Amino acid sequence: MASDSLHKIPTAPAAKPLVGHLFSFRRSPIDFFSAHARNFKELFQFKIFSKSYIVLNHPDAVHHVLTSNVKNYTRQKSYAFLQELLGMGLLTNEGDEWRSRRRLAQPNFGREKLASLMQQMDVAIENFTKNHFNTNSTLSLEDELNHLTLSILTQSILYSENNANFEKVKSDLQDALEYLTAQRFNVFKFMTKLPSKRKSKGKAAIARLKLLVENIILERRKSTAAHNDLLEMLMNTKDEENNEMLDDKALADEVMTMFVAGHETTASSLLWTIYLLEHNTAVRDKLLQELQMNYDGTAIDMTKMMQLPYMRMVIMESMRLYPPVWSFGRKAIDEDQIMGYAIPKGASVNIPVYCIHRHPDYWKHPDAFYPEHFLPEAVKERDKFAYLPFSQGMHRCIGEHFAIMEMQMVLMRLYFQYEIHFATDKAPVLHPLVTLKPKEPIYFTIQKRKL
Ligand code: HEM
Repeated sequence: MASDSLHKIPTAPAAKPLVGHLFSFRRSPIDFFSAHARNFKELFQFKIFSKSYIVLNHPDAVHHVLTSNVKNYTRQKSYAFLQELLGMGLLTNEGDEWRSRRRLAQPNFGREKLASLMQQMDVAIENFTKNHFNTNSTLSLEDELNHLTLSILTQSILYSENNANFEKVKSDLQDALEYLTAQRFNVFKFMTKLPSKRKSKGKAAIARLKLLVENIILERRKSTAAHNDLLEMLMNTKDEENNEMLDDKALADEVMTMFVAGHETTASSLLWTIYLLEHNTAVRDKLLQELQMNYDGTAIDMTKMMQLPYMRMVIMESMRLYPPVWSFGRKAIDEDQIMGYAIPKGASVNIPVYCIHRHPDYWKHPDAFYPEHFLPEAVKERDKFAYLPFSQGMHRCIGEHFAIMEMQMVLMRLYFQYEIHFATDKAPVLHPLVTLKPKEPIYFTIQKRKL
C-alpha cells in the first residue's frame, strides 16, 4: 500500500494538554487499555507527555510484529532495566548471540529433560505443603505461592539435597527486583539516578546473587558429581551449529534469567487459577472429580499428568483471563505498515495481552471463566495469535512447558490434599507491574480434604 493511502492510527480520546493520558494511564493501566480496546478493535495510540505509544489490539497486528516482520521490532529497551541483574541472558539479548544461546538452551526444555526434573519438583512441593500447610492461621496466597515457585525453581536450576541456596536466593531476589522495578516504573527518569536506600539494598543484593551463582558454577566445574538440574544440563550442552558451549559468564546470566523469568510469572498464574477455582465452584468440582478419578496421591509423572486434560484447560483459561505477563512491548527500528496503518520509525508498540485475551471477536465468553475455550476443536478454530500468555514467534517463552508442568503438579498436590477457604469475598483490584498481581493480599486458610 502506498504510504499516502495508509490510515492514521486513531488516538484515544481525553488526552490532557501537556501530560496527555498520563494520569488515566497511571491510575489503572489495565482499565485504561481495556476501556479503549472496547472502542478500537485494531490499533490505537495514546500519549504520555509528548511520546506516543501504539497499542496492537488485534491478532493480525501481533502476528506481524512477532513473526512476519519480526526483524523490524526490537525489545531491547523493554527489558534493559533488568540487564544489571541478567547481563545478556535470553530475555535481554537479541541478534546472533541470542539465536546461538536459544539454540543451545532449547533442548533442555523438551519433554524428556523436563520429565527428569519431575521427581525433585514433586519433593519440593511435598516439603512445602508439609511445612506451610500444617497450621490453622491465615496465610497470604501471593507470599505462599512466591515461596513455593521459588523453591521449586531453585531445586530445578541449582539442585541441592537440603535446598541450601533457597533462603539466600529468596531475600536477595526480592530486594533486587524491587529496586529494578522501581527504576523501570519511575516516570521521572532523573529520580532513578539519585541515591536511595532501596537502590543500595538492591545493588548489594545483585552483587551477592551474582557471587553465589558464580561460586556454584566454579564448584560445579571442579566437581565430577552428577546434579540433575538445569545448570548441569546447560553446562553440558553444545550449540550444534557452531559447536560452542556457554562460558561461565553466559551460564550465570542464563541461571539468573531463569530465576527472574520463571518465578513470579508462575506464582501469579497459580494465584489467579486458585482464585478463579474458588469463585467458580462448578469448575472446581469438575476439576476435583477428574482428579479423584485419575490420581491417587502418589509420586507424579508425565503419564499421571496426561490423565487430567480438564485441569490443563483450567490452567490455560486462567492464563487467558489473568495473563501473568499482561502486556509487553517492542520498538520499530524502521517505518512500517500494520493492517493498513502507518507505523513511524522508532515507534513504541505495545501488545496488550490482557485485552486480546478478552477480544469479543475471538472468545465466546470473553469475561467468563470458561475452560471449554480450550477444548481441542475450539483451539484448532481460533487464531493462535489471539492467545499469548507465553508470547508467540521466535521469542516465545522457553519455559512454557516447564511452567505448565509445574502448575499442574502444584494443583494436583494441593487440590488432592487440601481445601482452600478464602478469608474475604472482596474482588481483588488488579496491580499490573511486570507481572499481574492483586493490589491487596488475598488471605486464605487451609484444611485437610476429607476424601
Ligand atoms: C506462567 C509462567 C510464565 C509465563 C506467563 C511466561 C511468559 C513469558 C513471555 C510472555 C515471554 C516473552 C517476553 C517477550 O518476548 O517480550 C517469556 C520469555 C521467556 N521466558 Fe517465560 N513465562 C513463564 C515461565 C517461565 C519459566 C518457568 C522460565 C524458565 C525456567 C521462563 C523463561 C523465559 C525466558 C528465558 C524467556 C526469554 C525467551 C527468549 O527470548 O528467547 N519463563 N516468558
